[in-house]
Amino acid sequence: MADRQVLCVGLVCLDIISEVERFPAEDSDTRCVSQRWQRGGNASNSCTVLSLLGAPCAFMGSLAPGPVADFVRADFRKYHIDISQVCEHAQCCLPASVVISNVSTGSRTILHMNRNLPDVTDDDFSKLDLSRFMWIHWEGRNADEQAKMIQRVMLYNSTLPRQQRITISVEIEKTRELLYQLFPLGDVVFVSKDVAVTFGFHSADAAVRGLYHRVKEGAVLICAWAEKGADAMGPDGVVVHSDAFPPAALVDTLGAGDTFNAAVIYTLSHGGSLQDALTFGCQVAGRKCGVHGYDGIVEK
Ligand code: ADP
Ligand code: FRU
Repeated sequence: MADRQVLCVGLVCLDIISEVERFPAEDSDTRCVSQRWQRGGNASNSCTVLSLLGAPCAFMGSLAPGPVADFVRADFRKYHIDISQVCEHAQCCLPASVVISNVSTGSRTILHMNRNLPDVTDDDFSKLDLSRFMWIHWEGRNADEQAKMIQRVMLYNSTLPRQQRITISVEIEKTRELLYQLFPLGDVVFVSKDVAVTFGFHSADAAVRGLYHRVKEGAVLICAWAEKGADAMGPDGVVVHSDAFPPAALVDTLGAGDTFNAAVIYTLSHGGSLQDALTFGCQVAGRKCGVHGYDGIVEK
């Protein structure tokens, strides 16, 4: 059998990126440094990085017809990402984000738009042949449906010896109550700085300690904190930390978190330790912050 894939379930969208030297004032008329289209969405970005790292990977999300989807499909192909399990929605539009990327500060300001594209459902997911996958990552979105998908994988796992089981990871990035039901469902749980702050934690260390009771027994909880790096805690109760690896020049932080998640998943899925995973996650995410897009983030 071919190597089992890492599957990422979540969003693909179009990012319309304008790079500016200064954030524009309202009602001003200014020139930007450059403009580009880029395939975006957390799960889709994580697939790009997994693929660049050399992991066979697949994306599951919704697509709609039209020129934007043609661009997105061609880009998935360029990065050798398997999209055989995407869900097609004939009457819908692919979401797009307008991104203002400030090359002076590295900040990225995102305006989202999703007119009508529904997320993948448990019914869609039930059609997958799970034996193809060694790891499935869910970008927290329609959590009620995602919880059902995860329970399906848990049931599948319960019939198998350990080495054939699928590792389950979830990302809780947005501060939405609905997403918090995902905490006890992942073997590996990524929680964002935004969510941590909403719960009253002001560092990654405090967040992993304070939120650990929400994850299931044996799970790992990971929290990235931009230029402060990332912390994680596993079942032994020891907090591990990696500093960030700032690039020589900060040029583009869009997708830094998605890059971090992918590099962590890559390391853990290859048997690396939690410390190795955090360090590698921060290294690759740091390199990403120093380049436009994703090409060049993997050292050859
Ligand atoms: P996002 O805002 O894209 O979700 P995070 O802020 O969670 O990303 O950062 C993820 C990882 O990316 C951090 O742990 C860090 O390693 C790296 N990173 C993000 N911003 C910077 C930065 N300004 N300098 C260096 N590394 C960064
Ligand atoms: C980056 C990103 C962008 C997209 C937005 C969607 O993490 O996935 O590519 O526009 O976030 O939330």
